[in-house]
Amino acid sequence: MGAFRRTWLIAFLFIRLSTELVPVVSAHTRKLDNSSSLFSVYPTPCFPGTFIFGDSLVDNGNAMAVYPDRFARLEQDPFGVSWPGHGADRFCDGKLIGDYLSWGTGGFPMSAYLRSVQTLLFLGVNLAASGSTVLPGLTLNPIFQDDEVFPHTPFTLDQQLQWYKHFMFRDSELSKGRSMQNVIPVGSFNSSLHLIIAGYTDYILQFLSGWPEALVLASVTGIVNGISDTAEMLHTTHKVKDIVVVNLPPLGCTPAFLTIFPGDPDDYDDYGCLTSFNAAIELHNEELFRAVLTLRAKYPDLSLSYGNFYRTFQDILKHPSKFGFHSTPKLLKACCGAGGKYNFEPNVTCGASVFANGKLHNGTACKEPTKHLFWDGFHPSGAVNRIAAISFLNGTALYPSDGLRPPNCKPDFSQF
Ligand SMILES: *[C@@H]1O[C@H](CO)[C@@H](O)[C@H](O)[C@H]1NC(C)=O
Ligand SMILES: *[C@@H]1O[C@H](CO)[C@@H](O)[C@H](O)[C@H]1NC(C)=O
Ligand SMILES: *[C@@H]1O[C@H](CO)[C@@H](O)[C@H](O)[C@H]1NC(C)=O
Ligand SMILES: *[C@@H]1O[C@H](CO)[C@@H](O)[C@H](O)[C@H]1NC(C)=O
Ligand SMILES: *[C@@H]1O[C@H](CO)[C@@H](O)[C@H](O)[C@H]1NC(C)=O
Repeated sequence: MGAFRRTWLIAFLFIRLSTELVPVVSAHTRKLDNSSSLFSVYPTPCFPGTFIFGDSLVDNGNAMAVYPDRFARLEQDPFGVSWPGHGADRFCDGKLIGDYLSWGTGGFPMSAYLRSVQTLLFLGVNLAASGSTVLPGLTLNPIFQDDEVFPHTPFTLDQQLQWYKHFMFRDSELSKGRSMQNVIPVGSFNSSLHLIIAGYTDYILQFLSGWPEALVLASVTGIVNGISDTAEMLHTTHKVKDIVVVNLPPLGCTPAFLTIFPGDPDDYDDYGCLTSFNAAIELHNEELFRAVLTLRAKYPDLSLSYGNFYRTFQDILKHPSKFGFHSTPKLLKACCGAGGKYNFEPNVTCGASVFANGKLHNGTACKEPTKHLFWDGFHPSGAVNRIAAISFLNGTALYPSDGLRPPNCKPDFSQF
């Protein structure tokens, strides 16, 4: 990985300056209180609920709940510009994969576990936290102690599993002898969908911290084991039957990595992505797939599926116009940013405003987010999440292909 530019890493230490906007408390009202009509609107939910584990690819508010200052941007424009029209605590212009799957399976997104206001837990819980890792300790790298480029949180996958256990325990204790409104019945946990999308932050933090390639590759097995142990624990300890483990996006195609680690011409593939970073992610994805096969063989009564998120990116890169995306090189530009070849400025990220050289620089959104592979430097656009979710549900990017379709499950893609 000769392409690393250490100067950038050092620059990160000085980036803090002023990227942090004064948090403006969002005046937007969340329109999530229409629960009474949900079941009539969506008559065929596929699972009674959804539980989500992972990082910023699926977090819908946990990191924000704990660190409202660090993640303040997520409640402001232009986040959420495609949906719901205002910042919604997600690193996206629109919906995340978990939002789509809960729409398609349960009919409504579940709330974040740590959300304190208007929490709706009757269709499951989202335990994912932005900036969280599978491996413990990674977040302690001094470069990222205080960094706005990729804010971290200490809520590892294992921590999320502890939250899950605690939630289940409280649910069963509190519901004894009475029914609890707004909380999924504890008897429905084991037949709910469990979604795990984890590891992306592990690789991002390692690479941004300047780890040598060999060290990153050596970490893959530990990361994959952490994910497969979580899936196994959900099944053996909590009798969960339906789990989808999702692989990771091509990090070498992200506007952030393309900007931070510019390479020589032969470091890029035919689509303009950096091959070395994608190779590391591909190794992760292969090992994850093998781990899924191993668990499937070990537990015949477990419906464990492998969601091929990476494939969605490949499909779009190969045929961008077929999916309504820009062609390269615009395809690889972040929708939201403050300029540069890939519309990614490490010191003025999406949603930030920085005063420098006598003027204000803003990380603003493009006009057509649905035509970009990435919303910001690291996170896929809502359009990519939508295609991925549909491809999981229709089997094109899922192994086995019917893993997300229990009998009578007819997700209504027109709601997506
Ligand atoms: C609730 O949902 C129904 C069905 O989608 C809709 O007709 C109604 O306007 C909604 N009510 C509110 C208060 O949002
Ligand atoms: C799921 O959990 C409920 C309540 O704990 C139990 O009654 C039911 O038998 C379980 N179902 C399966 C398939 O394990
Ligand atoms: C961003 O950082 C680079 C390198 O440190 C610097 O040259 C540039 O002026 C900065 N831009 C802004 C808008 O602060
Ligand atoms: C940045 O945003 C501020 C406040 O919204 C605005 O006044 C300013 O014109 C913007 N600057 C640029 C270069 O877009
Ligand atoms: C599944 O959905 C994806 C995304 O819309 C599409 O590209 C693919 O052709 C679909 N596959 C099937 C079998 O319908």
